[in-house]
Amino acid sequence: MIRKALLPVAGLGTRMLPITKVVPKELLPILNRPAIEYIVQEIIQSGLDTIIFVISSGKEGIVDYFDINLGLRKFLEERNKVELLRLVDRIESQVENLVAVRQKKPEGLGHAVLMGESIVGNEPFAVILGDDLVASDVPCLKQMLSVYLELSAKYEDLSVIALEEVPREDVSKYGIVDGDRVSENIIRMRRVIEKPSLNDAPTNYAIIGRYIFTPKIFEHLKRIPKRGGEYQLTDAIQGLIDDGYPVFGFFFQGMRLDTGNLKGYLKAILYYALQDPELREVVLEMISK
Ligand code: G1P
Repeated sequence: MIRKALLPVAGLGTRMLPITKVVPKELLPILNRPAIEYIVQEIIQSGLDTIIFVISSGKEGIVDYFDINLGLRKFLEERNKVELLRLVDRIESQVENLVAVRQKKPEGLGHAVLMGESIVGNEPFAVILGDDLVASDVPCLKQMLSVYLELSAKYEDLSVIALEEVPREDVSKYGIVDGDRVSENIIRMRRVIEKPSLNDAPTNYAIIGRYIFTPKIFEHLKRIPKRGGEYQLTDAIQGLIDDGYPVFGFFFQGMRLDTGNLKGYLKAILYYALQDPELREVVLEMISK
């Protein structure tokens, strides 16, 4: 039902400078895999088959990572490196439809999402931001799709946005929402404010980087004004709400790992190392020493 995921990956990654001068933050390794692969896996495990990367100049490596590298294949074949060939093949075949569109100017998340309009076409789609990995039993996007499906029986043109409660002092880093409880883990959103001050934040319910939209969002993205040089996705979401479209916030099950800053990045590496029996030993031994 939802086949396409749009991944805005055009940003400069300034919070991770200086490495992001030369390596896109999405390609920074969490162990031996780029951070973006964990997100792509979540998307594929949730049953989607088309990934639309919104890139900018210098970010082509993200798309190349999932594309077929004939030279590397030939090299490994000639040397009979069967295991490595299998490893590479698994990465290169996981995304069925790989699309890249360009955001030529850094005009914000709202603008980046709008760049995907013609590829998304007239069907609901997911937007996933590259910073937030979610470790969970059921992939976070899959949980959201279940909620979307369930609510679709009752509502038309609905959106579902992943939420997490964050410490009060962090509200100014996120889109913060207010709304009415529909069930234990779902609210119907009434208001969304991008990066409010502590005083202006009505709640500590933060938008994390996962959204399900219908193409209605594009109409609103075309209507919103630029603020501080950028078009905010949050303003278009408020536009949907103001026009009476149902927008739901969903508190997912799982642990979010924000790889967009140094501490979060380190936590993500440790988290995934601790999941692996051999690497776990290495980490624990190192700490005990
Ligand atoms: C973006 C969104 C914000 C959201 C956040 C989640 O902000 O604008 O609403 O809460 O992602 O990571 P950014 O982190 O790109 O500044």
